[in-house]
Amino acid sequence: MHMHRLEKWWLVFGISMLAIFLLVLGTATFAMGVTPPGEHRHTVNPETVTQNEPFDKPGLRQVGDNEYEAVILAFVFGYSPDRIELPVGAKVNFVLTSTDVVHGFHIIGTNVNMMAVPGEVNHTSYTFKEPGEYLVLCNEYCGAAHEQMQMRIIVK
Ligand code: CUA
Repeated sequence: MHMHRLEKWWLVFGISMLAIFLLVLGTATFAMGVTPPGEHRHTVNPETVTQNEPFDKPGLRQVGDNEYEAVILAFVFGYSPDRIELPVGAKVNFVLTSTDVVHGFHIIGTNVNMMAVPGEVNHTSYTFKEPGEYLVLCNEYCGAAHEQMQMRIIVK
């Protein structure tokens, strides 16, 4: 079979690239211990989660100057707490998990859209610059009353 010189070079180039890619990936994984995001992965036992910190006391606590931590439990079919009140400009660090099945946590009108997964703790932060009533909905189908699952965040 005749192969053009350029075809051969291209083949060598392609195979070399693949080898380099695997070498880099292999070095990062096995020699340097680099793993996918999830280094800070935080897991809990969903059966005992409500007995342990911080999910034994879901709710809002102030952690700084107009900065809060909101510990939230999702369950069929609601959230605990189901309502939080904040001053305008509050930065909220959400800490979320589920006690049963997979739920969603979508603050309508914001880019906050998390999954509440049993056994996993999800984190995100959001600063509420606009006053108003923010509706939080579950956007993972979780059962018969899925569409009634909601909470409210009041910012004033
Ligand atoms: Cu919870 Cu849908």
